[in-house]
Amino acid sequence: MQIQHIGVVGAGQMGSGIAQVCAQAGLTVTLVDVHQAALSRARDTIARSLARLVKKGALTQADADASQARIAYHDAPTELAHCQLVIEAATENWEIKAQLFARIASVVNEQTILASNTSSISLTRLAARVPAAHRVIGMHFMNPVPVMPLVEIIRARQTDDATFAAIRALSERLGKTPVSVNDAPGFVSNRVLMPMINEAIFCLHEGIASAGDIDAVMKLGMNHPIGPLALADLIGLDTCLAIMDVLYHELRDSKYRACPLLVQMVDAGQLGRKTAKGFYGYE
Ligand code: CAA
Repeated sequence: MQIQHIGVVGAGQMGSGIAQVCAQAGLTVTLVDVHQAALSRARDTIARSLARLVKKGALTQADADASQARIAYHDAPTELAHCQLVIEAATENWEIKAQLFARIASVVNEQTILASNTSSISLTRLAARVPAAHRVIGMHFMNPVPVMPLVEIIRARQTDDATFAAIRALSERLGKTPVSVNDAPGFVSNRVLMPMINEAIFCLHEGIASAGDIDAVMKLGMNHPIGPLALADLIGLDTCLAIMDVLYHELRDSKYRACPLLVQMVDAGQLGRKTAKGFYGYE
């Protein structure tokens, strides 16, 4: 099956990035979010990102305009009815994702592939919530989606070979490099990345060094493009906490306990770039 019409559910930073790369690859995209404000922010984010690509000569203005024109913005999930693939990119929360999956399954047809951009939640458990469980798969993009080449592809226990092959081929059409991993908490990306970020937060919490110095150690000493605390701000501290909680509860190991400072900052609404305050300030 050649996928041509994609639905993306959730117009946050991941959803808008996924919609953009799909549109740039020539696919028709229906971007759905129940919040009109999120849809208009997504339109602006995509416009800014495309403008950046035009400015550096990676895209013509005509291609940027055509990409934006291929995206339709809607607040009703019923608009997904004719999509061959729907990628769910909502908040990293089991209840929200499980409800959304059931809702999406109720409006699409039996042939539609249902993918989740979840960072840590079990695809097998999500698949069990819908009738066509063999058509469920994980498609985990990295932030910022237009820049990062990886797509982690996660097979649920129920995923069939045709679904896997279609998603692998699509990832390549999007210009990404797919890497296949088994369904396990946090997959590979967040099983490795998130404990490092959490440990950096512990270093700050215990007064071992300042945020700037912790990040400098990892940038200058380990050649990371940005430090773990700046990266946490980019990902969103609420997402970091949700992922740590999945690792902790699913793997039943205290080494994945979220740092109390991370919990407190999320309680305070200091979520990183999206709230203009995290380990650093953003104006
Ligand atoms: N759209 C288009 N292009 C963008 C962009 C966007 N949203 N954001 C950055 N870019 C481009 C810039 O135009 C620039 O391009 P050139 O080098 O060709 O000029 C390039 O990316 C670098 O950008 P900047 O110079 O503005 O800034 P930078 O050098 O700090 O790079 C970065 C930005 C690529 C994001 C870099 O900081 C980086 O690699 N950070 C780490 C990102 C990372 O680890 N992501 C994974 C997070 S984990 C995750 O997403 C999964 C999860 O489940 C939590």
